[in-house]
Amino acid sequence: MRKKIIAGNWKMNYTINEAYDFVSSIKDLINTNEVDVVICPNHVALERVYDLIEGTNIKLGAQNVYFEDKGAYTGETSVNMLVSAGVKYCIIGHSERRKYFNETDEMVNKKAKKLLEKSIIPIICVGETLEQREKNEHFDFVSTQVKGALKEISENDVSNNIVIAYEPIWAIGTGVSATASQAEEMCKFIRDEVAKLYSQEIAQNIRIQYGGSVKPSTASEILNKEDIDGALVGGASLTNDFVAIVHYE
Ligand code: PGA
Repeated sequence: MRKKIIAGNWKMNYTINEAYDFVSSIKDLINTNEVDVVICPNHVALERVYDLIEGTNIKLGAQNVYFEDKGAYTGETSVNMLVSAGVKYCIIGHSERRKYFNETDEMVNKKAKKLLEKSIIPIICVGETLEQREKNEHFDFVSTQVKGALKEISENDVSNNIVIAYEPIWAIGTGVSATASQAEEMCKFIRDEVAKLYSQEIAQNIRIQYGGSVKPSTASEILNKEDIDGALVGGASLTNDFVAIVHYE
């Protein structure tokens, strides 16, 4: 049985103090064992948030990492640095990073491998544009992203240590979520791709989230779909709506 995983992607929001205040106000409400809960603040707020959630069931996630170990990469953050801040998950390949910072499938793959070396779970984001969906290219596009991201990653890691987030770009930050059946269709497609690349057993283990304008009013229908194992929540993770989403029924 796959445990659902609900992650909040704060993006570039909240100063250290704002992060502290917000997490202080919701942490008891999202400290549950029913689902895995992950909070992904910006890098400067990681440590402060970690201090607050240490000892709870809530896990810390980062929003990005670099794939080199150390050195002259101004502005970048290594996996070891994330480990030292208490990070357990890291979002990679988010469409905003692909769009504004030219992150490619190859980079996503390198980042995934580097994170796995240090036992941080990559949350690998994939998803098509509206134009691709309208041209019926969305399955091919997502398939390429999945294959690129998972290249040379072991069966064991894919089975146990990776999360994939299907985030159609047209649904991110727009208020227009994919319908539950659109989300289910693509999450199932991704699972079938993993089955082809690895095995049916591994495909049944990997967790696949949906992300894109998830709200308390849409969470239940989406999260009750068979192949959707959680949500990657942006805007709604900055408010008390996150509490409601964590406790969807
Ligand atoms: P959204 O963002 O929930 O604000 O649409 C989701 C995401 O980008 O991860």
